[in-house]
Amino acid sequence: MSQTPSDALVFFGATGDLAHKKIFPALQRLAKRGKLNMPVIGVAKAGWNLDQFKLRAKQSVEQYGGLDAGGFGKLLSVLKYIDGDYADPETFRQLRQELETAKHPLHYLAIPPSLFAEVVKQLDASGSSQGARVVVEKPFGHDLASAQALNQTLHATLKEEDIFRIDHYLGKNAVQNVLFFRFANSFIEPIWNRRYVESVQITMAEDFGVAGRGAFYDQAGTIRDVVQNHLLQLLSNVAMEPPPSNDVERMRDEKVKVLRSIPALRPEDVVRGQFMGYRNEPGVKPGSQVETFVALRLYINSWRWKGVPFYIRAGKSLPVTTTEVMAKLKQPPAIFSDAIPPANYFRFRVTPDLAIAIGALVKIPGDDLHGEHIELLAAEHSDPAELQAYEELLEDAMHGNSVRFARQDYVEEAWRIVDPVLGNQIPVDAYAPGTWGPAEADALVHQDGGWLNPQP
Ligand code: BG6
Repeated sequence: MSQTPSDALVFFGATGDLAHKKIFPALQRLAKRGKLNMPVIGVAKAGWNLDQFKLRAKQSVEQYGGLDAGGFGKLLSVLKYIDGDYADPETFRQLRQELETAKHPLHYLAIPPSLFAEVVKQLDASGSSQGARVVVEKPFGHDLASAQALNQTLHATLKEEDIFRIDHYLGKNAVQNVLFFRFANSFIEPIWNRRYVESVQITMAEDFGVAGRGAFYDQAGTIRDVVQNHLLQLLSNVAMEPPPSNDVERMRDEKVKVLRSIPALRPEDVVRGQFMGYRNEPGVKPGSQVETFVALRLYINSWRWKGVPFYIRAGKSLPVTTTEVMAKLKQPPAIFSDAIPPANYFRFRVTPDLAIAIGALVKIPGDDLHGEHIELLAAEHSDPAELQAYEELLEDAMHGNSVRFARQDYVEEAWRIVDPVLGNQIPVDAYAPGTWGPAEADALVHQDGGWLNPQP
């Protein structure tokens, strides 16, 4: 089907959390820019009618980004709603009817992964997947075996080029900028390798808990929720080789190559934590062993990175909400005094705003050759709600542009890496909310100078 634009948008899970926070605001923005000239059909089982659904859409845009009269009016004029069970063929018969003459619908599965297979089968049986594209929300499966099975199910009715595994981190300008900055400037590439880089840390800290998503989170945990997807994607942008061209598949090949060079995680390279009070969250099992924090060490066995430790740390109820990459360079020799100067570093902040900084030492005034640490900083305030990410990714999917979506082999490689440390075989250590996780995480990075904590 290549680049033929979609002519209808269907979204499953239309009364859910994701639709409320991200999809309606993204749709309003698309409508405002005149990019939503097609029926938009919400599907869910909530016992609602179209008016209730429209009210929900209004509440959503009011709360997330604000109501834009023009854009919202346009969205309402194309909005339809089907209330039905995903296991009931009648739901899909109605869908087929509502699709009318649409030949290339885009089906967005904003639903739990356990329902993907059923919906895909029903779409096929009702004739709604012919000429269609499907957007699949993360997490894509819950381990390697289930991701492989899911890929098989999808491939039974859809071509790989029509499957869009969404990861909203790929829609973040600041995440793309890591790649862009590396390859658009000549000064960074000569030192971006094992000869100059001592170690790399990626921290995704959130200062809130599971925020009403206890039932989902307790099935997932931090590794499945953000490491297997967002953070490995970010790591790929940090570590990949320049693609030979802009071509979608050549770009995705390079990302897969990074993951292929990473050995599967070993339990001794992983620390799991759980914030105190997590077990009292609604939807969480009383004795839950699920992690709300993880710290891990991995290696990329490529010519460029062999021997450089990469540390990844992510958690809920930490002191700040920020995602940052810190690449620490090797120590310079001491020349101006006996003290070895602090190592230079590159810092990429990707949430909640964009910053690129180089840590350096400059001389302070006076006769002595003493220095002080400074940062050369480029910063940009970005939309905190990150509404563009979903807007842009949906628009890409509508035009069949896969470059910012995960390919089958990528997703399976990412699961291969984390598969051995999923579940509860590694004990969870408790940590107090508002701290940087359990003390055990510090030991992991001790030999490399400790964690570099992002500032608020
Ligand atoms: C989601 C995770 O994918 O990403 C959440 O399920 C997490 O747990 C969120 O909070 C973070 O994304 P962002 O864009 O808000 O930083």
